[in-house]
Amino acid sequence: MLAESIARFDHIVRPLAVHLPPPLATQLYSSGRNVFLSALAAEKPAPVSIAAYHKRTLWGLTFRNGLLNAAGMFKQGEGYDMVFRQGAGGYLAGTTTAHKRTGNVRNGITKPFAPYPRSRAASNWLGLPNDGHEAVAKRLAAFENKEHFPIGASLMTDPESSGEQALQELVRGMECYDRAGVDFLEINESCPNVAHGASTLEAIAERLEYISRHFLQQRTRNLPVVVKFSTDTATADVAPLLDVLLSHGYDGVNFGNTSTQYARHRMTLHKGDLALFDYFTQTFGGGVSGEPLRVSSLELVRTASKYAASRSLAREFHIIRTGGIATLQDVEESFSAGAALCQWYTGYFERFAEDGHSVYARLFGK
Ligand SMILES: Cc1cc2nc3c(=O)[nH]c(=O)nc-3n(C[C@H](O)[C@H](O)[C@H](O)COP(=O)(O)O)c2cc1C
Repeated sequence: MLAESIARFDHIVRPLAVHLPPPLATQLYSSGRNVFLSALAAEKPAPVSIAAYHKRTLWGLTFRNGLLNAAGMFKQGEGYDMVFRQGAGGYLAGTTTAHKRTGNVRNGITKPFAPYPRSRAASNWLGLPNDGHEAVAKRLAAFENKEHFPIGASLMTDPESSGEQALQELVRGMECYDRAGVDFLEINESCPNVAHGASTLEAIAERLEYISRHFLQQRTRNLPVVVKFSTDTATADVAPLLDVLLSHGYDGVNFGNTSTQYARHRMTLHKGDLALFDYFTQTFGGGVSGEPLRVSSLELVRTASKYAASRSLAREFHIIRTGGIATLQDVEESFSAGAALCQWYTGYFERFAEDGHSVYARLFGK
């Protein structure tokens, strides 16, 4: 299939392509990525069968296995049938915002993205391009339900709005997805590529309290809501964040989103990737993804799980791990550390380049 051929070819040339002048390499990968993703999302690989013992039930929802795409892969609600056929555990659309966004542009580069192939990592500064809550919810409403394949939607406050207006719009978005019949929601509290509200614990707690009062407490059906934080979250902040989530009736937490700790990651990257990394982070900033997040995401999950176990919880609360997952061993380690579910992005594409549409079958196939 076309997407497999593109990914395999790219896998071979990528270590060389990243040695092009960095602005050219970024331009190439930023535009090439869009072409590749459109081709991939439209493909219809032969459906694979997943061994039944991989099933995981959380909040009364059964996932075929414990691994699904992270937010940002299918921002517009595309690729649903494709990842079901591949054997993913579930599906997550978004992140969407109240108003349509076209994404960031700087130095003539639209939705900047750069891969670091020797380091199994990437940077992006896309800026949340998406068609808006309402349009994407409409697409999701039209999906045919598939057994043991829950549908989630990721959403966040619109970066162009502020204060109570931003929160009202977010709640309206959550209501759209509720009406669309999705199975779970993820609030993105951690995109490094757009302006958020203030990120102090007090400000986060205020926002989450508002959403709880205006949405969580008004729910009339089982619709779990989790909150996604950055993998840069300090371990000391995990307990206070969980206290906020638990006290306001949230159903889980996701650690987490991309990182902006460039100096730390620079030390672990392969030296062949450094010229592009330096250009990208100095020109755009953006979020680092992939292998550099593996240790911190696991540590955050472990800390969150220990803390949740130390509290007597009145209701189900689950921890999701995202960041640096690329192998079955990573998934199993996540579960051992206390995660109930895993999401992947950079590792998915790395595996896709080698395994093509068998990407989930290689991990969970019969
Ligand atoms: C190109 C790209 C776009 C992303 N867009 C979003 C997004 O819209 N919402 C979100 O919550 N996370 C987004 N992320 C972050 C991922 O969901 C994930 O948290 C992060 O990449 C770490 O996982 P990984 O190491 O498996 O890539 C994006 C990541 C990448 C690489």
